[in-house]
Amino acid sequence: MTIEEMRALLEASLPPKRYKHSVRVYETALQMADAYKADKEKVATAALLHDCGREIPTKELLAKARGFGIEVDNVEAAQPILLHAKLGVYYAVHKYGVHDAEVLDAIRYHSTGTTDMSETAKIVFLADMIEPKRDFPGVEELRKVSWQDLDRGMFLSYDNTIRYLLDDRALIHPDAIAGYNQLAARYKALKD
Ligand SMILES: [Fe+2]
Ligand SMILES: [Fe+2]
Repeated sequence: MTIEEMRALLEASLPPKRYKHSVRVYETALQMADAYKADKEKVATAALLHDCGREIPTKELLAKARGFGIEVDNVEAAQPILLHAKLGVYYAVHKYGVHDAEVLDAIRYHSTGTTDMSETAKIVFLADMIEPKRDFPGVEELRKVSWQDLDRGMFLSYDNTIRYLLDDRALIHPDAIAGYNQLAARYKALKD
């Protein structure tokens, strides 16, 4: 399937607001791919499809994931919105015909982050956070840092997100903690 065909299918599948967000993430991610000399085709596909799992309403995510035989961990069971990433991988494969492991991993981890992310995955994660309509305390700083250094952008992003989740008494997915710890260890070693 071409990227234009994927785009048309995505538009027919997602609520308009979510589709427009996906296009903004796609455009932002492509600019970042250019700046970082990343693989544009992988970035384009992963960015466009990162939220394709959102075609399922939040209330139905848990049942749908279980119905597809997707493994649901205890944090996802308590906070099912997280499952749109795994469902996104399912739809990317079965509906959009994507089989590239790097693209699928970028979709899988776009919401939590994780350790050892590919350049594609980092770009999609950060483009999702900083697309032009994003507006939250600290977004300007995150935009600045994300354009300078992908790992510094990820680190700041984990920092923002983990604080936000704590303030909200929400659950924090272990993949996010693992991603944070990996970068924290690296930057700590640089300082020590
Ligand atoms: Fe998402
Ligand atoms: Fe998104």
